[in-house]
Amino acid sequence: MKGFTATALAGAALFLTANADVDPIVIKGSKFFYQTNGTQFFIKGIAYQQDYLGNGTTTGSSGGDSSYVDPLADGSSCSRDVPYLQQLQTNTIRVYAIDPTKNHDQCMSLLADAGIYVIADLSAPGDSIVRDSPTWNDDLYARYTSVIDAMANYTNTMGFFAGNEVSNNNTNTDASAFVKAAVRDMKAYIKTKNYRTIGVGYATNDDADIRENLANYFDCGESTDAIDFWGYNIYSWCGDSSYTESGYDVRTKEFSDYNVPVFFAEYGCNEVQPRKFTEVQALYGPKMSPVWSGGIVYMYFQEANDYGLVSVSGDSVSTLDDFNYLSSQLASINPTGVNSNSYTPTNTAAQACPTVGSDWQASSNLPPTPNQELCECMFNALTCVPDNVSTDKVGDLFGVVCGLGQDTCAGIEANGTTGDYGAYGMCNPTQQLGWALNSYYEQQVAAGNGASACDFSGSAKTQAPSSPTGTCATLISQAGSAGTGTVTSQPSGTGSSGSGSGSSGGSSSSSSSAGVPGFSAPAHIGVLQVAFYLAIAFVSGAGMILL
Ligand SMILES: *[C@@H]1O[C@H](CO)[C@@H](O)[C@H](O)[C@H]1NC(C)=O
Ligand SMILES: *[C@@H]1O[C@H](CO)[C@@H](O)[C@H](O)[C@H]1NC(C)=O
Ligand SMILES: *[C@@H]1O[C@H](CO)[C@@H](O)[C@H](O)[C@H]1NC(C)=O
Ligand SMILES: *[C@@H]1O[C@H](CO)[C@@H](O)[C@H](O)[C@H]1NC(C)=O
Ligand SMILES: *[C@@H]1O[C@H](CO)[C@@H](O)[C@H](O)[C@H]1NC(C)=O
Ligand SMILES: *[C@@H]1O[C@H](CO)[C@@H](O)[C@H](O)[C@H]1NC(C)=O
Repeated sequence: MKGFTATALAGAALFLTANADVDPIVIKGSKFFYQTNGTQFFIKGIAYQQDYLGNGTTTGSSGGDSSYVDPLADGSSCSRDVPYLQQLQTNTIRVYAIDPTKNHDQCMSLLADAGIYVIADLSAPGDSIVRDSPTWNDDLYARYTSVIDAMANYTNTMGFFAGNEVSNNNTNTDASAFVKAAVRDMKAYIKTKNYRTIGVGYATNDDADIRENLANYFDCGESTDAIDFWGYNIYSWCGDSSYTESGYDVRTKEFSDYNVPVFFAEYGCNEVQPRKFTEVQALYGPKMSPVWSGGIVYMYFQEANDYGLVSVSGDSVSTLDDFNYLSSQLASINPTGVNSNSYTPTNTAAQACPTVGSDWQASSNLPPTPNQELCECMFNALTCVPDNVSTDKVGDLFGVVCGLGQDTCAGIEANGTTGDYGAYGMCNPTQQLGWALNSYYEQQVAAGNGASACDFSGSAKTQAPSSPTGTCATLISQAGSAGTGTVTSQPSGTGSSGSGSGSSGGSSSSSSSAGVPGFSAPAHIGVLQVAFYLAIAFVSGAGMILL
């Protein structure tokens, strides 16, 4: 019977691919609704991705840590699994990394036919904001926008996550400034491209020290910068726990006045086995359902981490004990929602931004919008550029050159704690190094020290700079001679390679809808001890530095 269902669906997909539309899910206040009839939508979700560890790596056997299997690119595996998702009452799946170059029509159509929506993370293993050295740069912008381009057209795409558990304890909260910039820019991108309104959110971890500040930070300030929904990865209900023992009561109170939808983006503690999923009754029950929009169980596939609902082998699927427990729990709930027409949000105010201090190190001043064109224009206009610098030497060379001269590296600074961002902090390492080398070089030329200042033991060379015209001239002038200005012009390109604007060529002076935050005082990068000594040695041998 199961086999028959799967086969029938696979066949049907061939005919339905073109027009499997569902009613989009929309957000009003702190709830989700079906757009047409206004019925409230509670997420009954399953995390659906094989070999994915959630910490930015995979267990894929081929291609190392950065390889991943796109769960929506293979119609036959989707047709194998959709009937099981239906048995679990699933109306939403979460996928962690899709390959935007692949075709997703068949899977998205099979899911749509089953009334299943998709929330997709925008990052990928090896292509995400790294908590201990965060950046929001041209490459990531290109990756994130390419996922949006690949998914936006499907009516059952429900939302995107701009990050998953990036800041995970009080040592790396500054990374959240970069993730929030990603939220802001992806929201603006969806608008610029005239896509259907699709929410952009964040999936947080449950670290007691930072969870409240995180929820406040991503929600605070201008709504154009803030998350559209908040996902909570929470594993505090284990075995036969309770509303109070699990802390669900306190979490519910914390979010009772949150102004956007909040739901569990992962749940299902496996410390007690089998998982009986008794938390389902609480989550969709009368105490929590007025605040929470349901949740997503981690996860469909049984793997080494032992969170699976089914085990899959080739074409065959076997349900595990957890599957049966979850299925009957979900079959027995009936959350009472409201209809959109009779719902007037009362909690409309955003949370207050947390202040930067010992517990919280992310400034409310966000990094600028990545702009690949700006970086290319800048690099082409340099006189002194890197030459044959091996990747492992780039870090050393930054250490040296940033310690020399006056604010040589302010233009490439990106400090999420102070909120100081140079205009070129989003550029690739070669472009950034070029900016730094050239800044130093120009200071030396101005001081009468000449061309030997562009050498750095053979790591730099001079090139004939191209004099910026048109858009390049505008961008570079906004960035300012120290690279610490605010670039408000959008690039003239159209998106696919890292620029999100519709402003058409020429003397682009349209202001950014993304609301690029102003740059405050010129930043100061600390002089590294090593560079200090090198600088002393430097007086007698301009540019001749051994690395
Ligand atoms: C509203 O539409 C959805 C999806 O089309 C459907 O599942 C739901 O039952 C509808 N609500 C009512 C009250 O008919
Ligand atoms: C990711 O998690 C796995 C399993 O817990 C661990 O082996 C791996 O070292 C982690 N990788 C990173 C980069 O944290
Ligand atoms: C998106 O859908 C519209 C309307 O169905 C269609 O015209 C357009 O080509 C689609 N775009 C992509 C990228 O699939
Ligand atoms: C914070 O998280 C990082 C990255 O996961 C980890 O290396 C570090 O040990 C953690 N620090 C504390 C104090 O928990
Ligand atoms: C580039 O650097 C490598 C080692 O760092 C050296 O072996 C090679 O000769 C250099 N190439 C050029 C063209 O200078
Ligand atoms: C940001 O600036 C502060 C204050 O100068 C400094 O303590 C901190 O280390 C800087 N952070 C990074 C990531 O450079």
